[in-house]
Amino acid sequence: ERLSLWGGRFAGGPADALAALSKSTHFDWRLAPYDIAGSKAHARVLHGAGLLDDGTLDAMLTALQQLADDVRGGAFEPAADDEDVHTALERGLIERAGADVGGRLRAGRSRNDQVATLFRMYLRDHARSVSMLLLDVVDALVAQAAEHADVPMPGRTHLQHAQPVLLAHHLLAHAWALLRDVERFRDWDRRTDESPYGSGALAGSSLGLDPQAVAQDLGFSSSTRNSIDGTASRDFVAEFSFVAAMSAVDVSRIAEEVVLWATKEFSFVTLDDAFSTGSSIMPQKKNPDVAELARGKAGRLIGDLAGLLTTLKALPLAYNRDLQEDKEPVFDAVDTLEVLLPAFSGMVGTLTFHADRLSSLAPQGFALATDVAEWLVKQGVPFRVAHEVAGECVRVCESRDIELWDLTDEDLAAINPALTPRVRSVLSVEGSLASRDGVGGTAPQRVAEQLQQARDTATSA
Ligand code: ARG
Repeated sequence: ERLSLWGGRFAGGPADALAALSKSTHFDWRLAPYDIAGSKAHARVLHGAGLLDDGTLDAMLTALQQLADDVRGGAFEPAADDEDVHTALERGLIERAGADVGGRLRAGRSRNDQVATLFRMYLRDHARSVSMLLLDVVDALVAQAAEHADVPMPGRTHLQHAQPVLLAHHLLAHAWALLRDVERFRDWDRRTDESPYGSGALAGSSLGLDPQAVAQDLGFSSSTRNSIDGTASRDFVAEFSFVAAMSAVDVSRIAEEVVLWATKEFSFVTLDDAFSTGSSIMPQKKNPDVAELARGKAGRLIGDLAGLLTTLKALPLAYNRDLQEDKEPVFDAVDTLEVLLPAFSGMVGTLTFHADRLSSLAPQGFALATDVAEWLVKQGVPFRVAHEVAGECVRVCESRDIELWDLTDEDLAAINPALTPRVRSVLSVEGSLASRDGVGGTAPQRVAEQLQQARDTATSA
């Protein structure tokens, strides 16, 4: 007969079909080290409440340490009949400490407060590891920006040529987005820094246990203030999932540009051999698979978030078994980011940018038309008129298939008398870049400043 954590009021064990449905060890086993840490902390508060004598506490902690070693070394694994990580580890404890000692640990706790605590511990660790990996992508972007500090490129809106910008300025725009994701993980951690241990099944414990002591033992600043909320809330999972999905979406926006930039038509970048793939049939192919997988995996993380929110929607208080469905989506999000981000930072760090190509395209597509309009404004022309005049310049150029700087002095004067030859001072990429010198603008000096700020933000994150 199958062993279970209940028995008393049941005449028989669960049906095979129920056991198969109920089982979660294939995905919650990764919580085992946290479960054992929780058990040690719980044993200490049972001792503190006078419910375990010194000798029993000693025997229990020794057995739990043995169990932790066996889990780490693979000598102890969940058995086919173990329902979840908690059930398996209780069996492991009893096998090592005997039923009299091992059977005392469950007093005053429930798998409901246990799992809510362990899950927080696991996610707090992975918020840190994922943040480090995001910072590696930031470092790769910052290094490329620093290396190409004076390379202009065509800045785009609607994917059309808009105004020249510095490549470094563009790369740093991606870096700031990722730095905010790292900051989101840090904010999230502040809210998640509360331990539900001691909440019991939902109402707390009658045994005089000290939830604050367990919290401190497990690295939390405090215990949760409401035991129902402690066991039933999963907004910490949903919020983590959102930050994970947002990070993946931010990465996917870089990815999409790399895919475009690596095409023959753009030829902005060449991918390193180590971060591109070939084709089994077309010998010439060099494909941006890392970037494409990043784009694809963002969809997967959005699905993980949507699935989790759907599980939580309209769920009554307190614990419901639906909550067992909270783990796989966010574990998937963590695993996906932990395998994606190292490849992604490697790809970004090894991109070769084609500075000549980027520079020569920077002013094309009449990208300096705004400079003409703003130059006119500085001559006292109302912007409404200046916009019209610069637009007329573009129209004339387009009809003759020439660029703005090809207009003669006579052409300019014919379009509008305010267009004196001095307008040529802004008809260069350098002039255009240098003139956008407000904070956050694309002037080389401003970009150099924000490069340093991005570095500082990354180091202090
Ligand atoms: N494995 C469950 C989960 O992950 C915890 C067990 C709670 N089960 C219960 N019947 N109260 O949510």
